[in-house]
Amino acid sequence: MPKHRIIILTTGSNKGIGFEVVRQLAAAGHTVILTARNAEKGNEAVHRLNSTGLNAFFLPLDVSDENSIRQAAVTVKEKFQRLDVLINNAAILLKEDVSLSTDDDRIFEQTWRTNVLGPLLMIKYFLPLMPEGSRIINTSSGGGSMTDPVGGWSPAYCVSKSALNAMTRHLAFELAPRNISVNAYCPGWVRTDMGGKSAPRTVEQGADTAVWLATADVRETGKFFRDRTVIPW
Ligand SMILES: NC(=O)c1ccc[n+]([C@@H]2O[C@H](COP(=O)([O-])OP(=O)(O)OC[C@H]3O[C@@H](n4cnc5c(N)ncnc54)[C@H](OP(=O)(O)O)[C@@H]3O)[C@@H](O)[C@H]2O)c1
Repeated sequence: MPKHRIIILTTGSNKGIGFEVVRQLAAAGHTVILTARNAEKGNEAVHRLNSTGLNAFFLPLDVSDENSIRQAAVTVKEKFQRLDVLINNAAILLKEDVSLSTDDDRIFEQTWRTNVLGPLLMIKYFLPLMPEGSRIINTSSGGGSMTDPVGGWSPAYCVSKSALNAMTRHLAFELAPRNISVNAYCPGWVRTDMGGKSAPRTVEQGADTAVWLATADVRETGKFFRDRTVIPW
């Protein structure tokens, strides 16, 4: 892929894997748009990057709020005129998410809104800014696998990631004529607020495949990756 500077937006990038993706891409010299639903946290994250000599443009963005997505797309159009790579990273895993059959429906609804509808609306609003050859990267999870055995944990979250995977395949087909790739990746089990302290992977390891999908000469579309390798859905 592009040896030139590309413009990359990552959702939910004030902390965790998203922040590390932005940090690595900024360190590689790309134009990065760091986004957060909480402006204070977003600005703090940009300052953290600045303190190490890196730059990022901050944009407030709540992926569960269509107006916020619409406004973000308007700002990116005004400021940058285009977007080369969209990394859908923001997601939630609610601690109350324990049983599909007995949990309050609002848990499923909230999870779905952020983890599935959020990425879809991001794609819909940002597509007009994405030129031929652009890339969309959806951050999924092994929890959404239709091949691995079901483990019973966080079922609404897992179902949301299965839906994100299915959406990835369909959008890859739809956008192929425009030469826009759509892939999903699993970062593995990573030490973040979501992954917890016992997770074996660092954020650097978790972010690696996203950075690779964003910048390397990857021709695949409609695929699911982990550790830079295609894995079964
Ligand atoms: N960590 C793991 O082991 C693991 C494994 C598999 C997949 N993943 C996936 O990797 C991605 C990143 O996870 P992580 O571990 O870095 O999680 P994290 O530390 O909890 O970070 C999640 C990020 O998403 C943001 N976010 C949540 N809801 C949002 C919304 N409505 N609008 C905008 N931003 C929102 C959070 O913002 P706030 O700071 O405001 O909450 C935060 O910046 C997720 O898609 C997750 O499902 C993680």
